[in-house]
Amino acid sequence: MHCTGRSWLANISRLLKVAFRSAKVRVDATFAERKATLILRTMRRRYNTLLACHLPYRQAGSLSYGTSQGEQAVKSSYRIGLLIALVGLIGLGAYPQQSAVAVPTPTPIVPVDTNMHDFMEGMFQAPYRRLKEALANEPKDNTAWKAIRSDLLILAEGSNLLALRKPEKDQAKWDELSVASKQAGELAFKAAKLKNFAETRKSYEAMLVHCNECHKVFDDGKHQLTP
Ligand code: HEC
Repeated sequence: MHCTGRSWLANISRLLKVAFRSAKVRVDATFAERKATLILRTMRRRYNTLLACHLPYRQAGSLSYGTSQGEQAVKSSYRIGLLIALVGLIGLGAYPQQSAVAVPTPTPIVPVDTNMHDFMEGMFQAPYRRLKEALANEPKDNTAWKAIRSDLLILAEGSNLLALRKPEKDQAKWDELSVASKQAGELAFKAAKLKNFAETRKSYEAMLVHCNECHKVFDDGKHQLTP
């Protein structure tokens, strides 16, 4: 039995170091927890040993528990040990958490640096004009359908891109109309894949209603597009 008061503190700090290192190497909360339990168990064992070591003080000296110098020393070093262990445990708890929860920062998606006018003109105007012509009558061949599908897809996905260009005010309305435009465009695209002219035309017209609705709210009613 070692009756030294300091060595067990060194022991605990050594165990804590081991636990810290393990927690760093393997991000494993259960592993760190096992180590921490071991530390607490060691502390308890050491505390009992030390009490036993200092028993003679108690028997020879004061009768009341906790008054002898030896016991006070044991108690205070136990408290120091507990403090170290507590700090250590908090550290152990924090370390794996930080690593496990660390989510990689997503790369932000930033739209091309230009205004809404350029966006609508560059992305929406040309497909709209082509569709107006292409869907005036039933498309004749596969090449015509292919071009229609492409333009419908550009407008449907383009509507999704509107989410990156929200105005400062009425964002909910903006989103609502963008989503409605995308959904109608998607339906038209799907019908075009099936070469179903009636359905394609119906959804295309429905899409234009949403385009126009947005132009009413956000563009002073300008650019009311006709199918
Ligand atoms: C969420 C709102 C919104 C939706 C949805 C929307 N637009 Fe626009 N659009 C605008 C705004 C705002 C402008 C005015 C931009 C400016 O000139 O400042 C505009 C302008 C336009 C213009 C005129 C561009 C020019 O040259 O001046 C066209 C064409 C156009 N949109 C087509 C469409 C089509 C086609 C759709 C549907 C597929 C659509 N837009 C859906 C907001 C929208």
